[in-house]
Amino acid sequence: LKVGVLISGRGSNLQALLDAAADPSFPAEIVLVVSNVPDVAGLDRAKKAGVATATINHRDYKSRLDFDNAVTNTLENSDVEFVCLAGFMRLVTKEFVEHWHNRMINIHPALLPLFPGLDTHQRALDEGCKLHGCTVHFVRHEMDSGPIVGQAAVPVLPDDTESSLAARVLTAEHRLYPECLKLIAEQHITISDNQLTYTQVSL
Ligand code: GRF
Repeated sequence: LKVGVLISGRGSNLQALLDAAADPSFPAEIVLVVSNVPDVAGLDRAKKAGVATATINHRDYKSRLDFDNAVTNTLENSDVEFVCLAGFMRLVTKEFVEHWHNRMINIHPALLPLFPGLDTHQRALDEGCKLHGCTVHFVRHEMDSGPIVGQAAVPVLPDDTESSLAARVLTAEHRLYPECLKLIAEQHITISDNQLTYTQVSL
């Protein structure tokens, strides 16, 4: 499976995907990394791993749709079949979501459907949650929604700060994202009509 990863920043989840894909037995290949922000750390991570990169600056486009179409064209010119959003901080258009329907996943730093949007760790602390975590899900038009592929939970400890909790969740993200991509690439998870089917999974 030829995968394109969209990023906007530091790219630690991208790194986890690159590391997993470096194993020849991993069933997916990362063929392109696209950033909407120039000169971010994630682009260097891709270059170090020998993966092609593209910067498509959203400021250069008149509309969201023009930008999204440029991203799709760039992905398709590299024969990308499947898209992973990894800290991609742009809202995407309905057209983009439809184009990549059931071929695009995202990682979100909360146990969806709890805490869509930003500031998830502080919100989990404010609510007194004892468990928090991360979710990989297929992308639908409504932000941070869509069929859930996998989740990882971490404890919220009494002395946690936003940053200590974020670090614990991030470690879980780095395990979860490659695992979910692998299950999809091996077709152990398939999706149709918003219904996920699991086959032959041994985690
Ligand atoms: C991660 O917490 C991810 O869940 C969220 O944005 C953050 C990106 O971090 N969508 P990184 O760029 O992968 O390091």
